Amino acid sequence: MKKLLITGAGGFLGWNICRIAVRRYEVTGVYHRRHAGFPDVACVQCDLTCYAEVKAMMRQLRPDAVIHAAAIASPDQCLEDPSGSRRINVDAAVSLAGLCGEASIPCLFISTDLIFDGTSPPYSEASDPTPINLYGEQKVEAEQAMRARHGEMIICRMPLLFGDVPSGARSSIQPLIYTLTAGTEMALFIDEFRTPVSGTTAAAGILSMLEKKPELIHLGGKERISRYDFGKLVAAALGKDASAIRQDLAANSSRPAARPRDVSFDSSKAFSLGYRPQTIEKEIAALICISTAKAKIELPSG
Ligand SMILES: NC(=O)c1ccc[n+]([C@@H]2O[C@H](COP(=O)([O-])OP(=O)(O)OC[C@H]3O[C@@H](n4cnc5c(N)ncnc54)[C@H](OP(=O)(O)O)[C@@H]3O)[C@@H](O)[C@H]2O)c1
Repeated sequence: MKKLLITGAGGFLGWNICRIAVRRYEVTGVYHRRHAGFPDVACVQCDLTCYAEVKAMMRQLRPDAVIHAAAIASPDQCLEDPSGSRRINVDAAVSLAGLCGEASIPCLFISTDLIFDGTSPPYSEASDPTPINLYGEQKVEAEQAMRARHGEMIICRMPLLFGDVPSGARSSIQPLIYTLTAGTEMALFIDEFRTPVSGTTAAAGILSMLEKKPELIHLGGKERISRYDFGKLVAAALGKDASAIRQDLAANSSRPAARPRDVSFDSSKAFSLGYRPQTIEKEIAALICISTAKAKIELPSG
């Protein structure tokens, strides 16, 4: 079995990738403060912003490939801590690409749809990045600098993700499930659009791209949907009254970082390579089933 190193293993996406990758690879999950708690995945603790630690870890583990999913993934957090977020989102990513280059192994970097300004969707791999917040700027800088450092980069740009999470992490759907379950009113934007997929679909797509090795790929879903309509689908899957969800406009948002209105992806290149996301409705239904069975959705803080 080939050895695969996955960073961000204590976070939402890294955890989902580890869970699937373990079927085909000898996986080591890299966590930072929050342990992923896998029974069947070896985990190592590492602060990826410390070059000496990362170098020692790479030397000791000698992976055959690296998937880099660790980041400060919140646009608001990046704005609050520009230099701290830069250290992990840009500097650590570029250093890791350099170490992968020295070891002659592929490095798959997780990027985002938030590198686009949202004014001319759908966005394909040929679209020029036009970030409107610091998080998007950092991701674009990382993409370019990693590519300059290492010839074997695979860049997977991800859409909005939702799904099952490890303890202490969150995706976009957990707050919705909690609010709807509690019967509390909420407002969701009717004018912010994405092409979301579940963490499971995203992880499977990412792992398949590790084999196919495109230089750049968009792994969006097949449907463009507003936050509001997404919320209604979650309410329906939970059997809850959707009237608790009010329509709102993004212009009323008090979020500190700017958000693009419509960063829907054109993922036809990935579809032609065999990437097959299910409908959002089916993905949500499957997730609600898992969550109900586990009966352990935690209310995330913040
Ligand atoms: N979630 C989405 O909807 C979405 C959409 C598009 C793209 N993405 C991208 O997908 C990737 C994963 O995002 P996510 O949603 O899984 O975020 P997440 O749940 O916040 O996970 C990120 C992980 O990175 C780790 N990390 C942060 N600083 C680190 C450091 N200095 N050293 C080592 N690890 C560190 C965090 O560990 P600690 O918490 O222990 O510090 C955390 O486990 C990111 O690149 C993000 O930009 C996510």
